[in-house]
Amino acid sequence: MCTLTESVLYKFNQLIYENLGIKLDETNQEMLKARLNRLMLKHNIENYHEYFNTLMSNKNTPIWSEFIDEITTHMTSFFREDGQFKFIHENINSITQINQRILQNNEIRVWSAACSSGEEPYTIAMVLKEALPDNVKVKILASDISNGIIQKAQKGVYPQEINQQVKPLLLEKYFKLKDDKYYISDEIKNMITFRTFNLMNDFPFKNTFDMIFCRNVMIYFDHSTQSNLVNKFYNFLPKNGLLFIGSSESLAKIDHNKLKYVRPSVYMR
Ligand SMILES: C[S@@+](CC[C@H](N)C(=O)[O-])C[C@H]1O[C@@H](n2cnc3c(N)ncnc32)[C@H](O)[C@@H]1O
Repeated sequence: MCTLTESVLYKFNQLIYENLGIKLDETNQEMLKARLNRLMLKHNIENYHEYFNTLMSNKNTPIWSEFIDEITTHMTSFFREDGQFKFIHENINSITQINQRILQNNEIRVWSAACSSGEEPYTIAMVLKEALPDNVKVKILASDISNGIIQKAQKGVYPQEINQQVKPLLLEKYFKLKDDKYYISDEIKNMITFRTFNLMNDFPFKNTFDMIFCRNVMIYFDHSTQSNLVNKFYNFLPKNGLLFIGSSESLAKIDHNKLKYVRPSVYMR
């Protein structure tokens, strides 16, 4: 394999930034090189230029999707940052009462905007199913830029270790244990629509979302990208709709519309 020069490495970094919004810093460069090497080996490509050009001329093809799957980080878990789910559970009455849309339509619309392998939207579905009366329909859109991870999410099959994350009562109620794997129930699965979607694109939705979860992805974006994204979210929240971000993320330094702080990592339009 030929050597990876600084200028070609820069081109890959730009490609990632311009298409995914992800700003890799110096600490990520070794990881990037290792991932590029793995992908090139798989395709029998020895030259970084050649691989770069192949990617440039094959966007929206499997080789491009595979590149995205490899570059993105998918770490997640059920009930990650549990404080937010406790907040929803404890405040469900006021959340539904101050957002007229939910009671008028008897439905709650939620977007899990970087859902990874599905643990986040399945957690939201379980929490809302437990907290809301049966007549309120829960509709969740779960999206991610990585097509590979969306396919995994759609399957809803998880290793036995998730019994460390999900309470026994919920495991019993919403999963089936078979051959050492937990399968999410159809009741929960049917609340969710999975889609591949890049947050850098314009949002193609007709309706607003009562809750938007965008957790642990903005950390990979720079301030201007974060700011654009939060303003796009703002436009798709109704009055009193909620935005949930990751606990290590903050809107403090970014220029955003009039979102109000509710509690750490939760904001309201
Ligand atoms: C670390 S995971 C976080 C998953 C989940 N939200 C959580 O907090 O556990 C970040 C996810 O963001 C996705 N992602 C990265 N860039 C994205 C983009 N531009 N558009 C949509 N999803 C993106 C990745 O594919 C990955 O699955």
